[in-house]
Amino acid sequence: MSSPTPEQLQTFLDIATEAALAAGAVLQTYYGNLESIEEKGRPGDLLTAADKAAEAVILEILHRHFPNHAILAEESGQLGEQENKYLWAIDPLDGTTNFAHQYPFFSASIGLLIDGIPQVGAIFDPFHNELFRAAKGLGATRNRRTIKVSQTTELSKSLLVTGFAYDRRQTNDNNYAEFCHLTHLTQGVRRSGSASLDLAHVACGRLDGYWERGLSPWDITAGIVLVEEAGGKVTAYNGSPLQIKSGRILATNGLIHNSLSTELMQVHPLSDWGKHLTTNV
Ligand code: IPD
Ligand code: CA
Ligand code: CA
Repeated sequence: MSSPTPEQLQTFLDIATEAALAAGAVLQTYYGNLESIEEKGRPGDLLTAADKAAEAVILEILHRHFPNHAILAEESGQLGEQENKYLWAIDPLDGTTNFAHQYPFFSASIGLLIDGIPQVGAIFDPFHNELFRAAKGLGATRNRRTIKVSQTTELSKSLLVTGFAYDRRQTNDNNYAEFCHLTHLTQGVRRSGSASLDLAHVACGRLDGYWERGLSPWDITAGIVLVEEAGGKVTAYNGSPLQIKSGRILATNGLIHNSLSTELMQVHPLSDWGKHLTTNV
């Protein structure tokens, strides 16, 4: 397996950027102008004309530049053979629920796995005009300026973010207990509704850590590259190497990684919650 050269990675990043910006422009035209909103099956899992139109624009750009690469797109599924060395993982609209409610927190996320490893990522937040980019060994940027993860060393001083997958009503493994546990130990846990932006915000130091389950490769491939290239750490909950298909991710500034991993491994069931209060009111 040969590694891509920095020049190749730069080319991939530039095309990923072109696709993210083009998708973002499409999203802007639909924002506040949706005629109908469908549900994809699970309650709350929405699909809009914006998701489809933004995905079409991304696919056209990637097919034109890289006709031999495979693509895993949220709305179109797997395009091209699974064994391909190059697999683009794309989410045309990450934060569909926010978008549908005109809550301005969503993005287009374009990631590239090379030999199964996330190596290129471009995430564009069109509402705030923020473009996050990274490629393996080339660093991470926000609007073309280098970004770094935060310096927070203690969980008690950290601000975290997480999310709840669409299957949350069908499983007890729904992250509710983890959310309570970490809310109790930190300065706060946000639930923003866009996994790719959660990772981008860990990368630029606005947030100190992120965990979530039930994710797909298109939600996190680009963001993983951003966090790693900004000096952070990305693993499974228990600190072992990330298995992207597990859908479970822990991403931090590196400094709180072990503490957050330890806490995630010892979350009490929600039924025990009252026993862990330190003060009674
Ligand atoms: C969702 C968002 C959300 C996360 C969900 C994802 P979508 O993606 O990233 O933050 O909690 O698990 O499915 O449906 O808006 O593309
Ligand atoms: Ca998503
Ligand atoms: Ca999506």
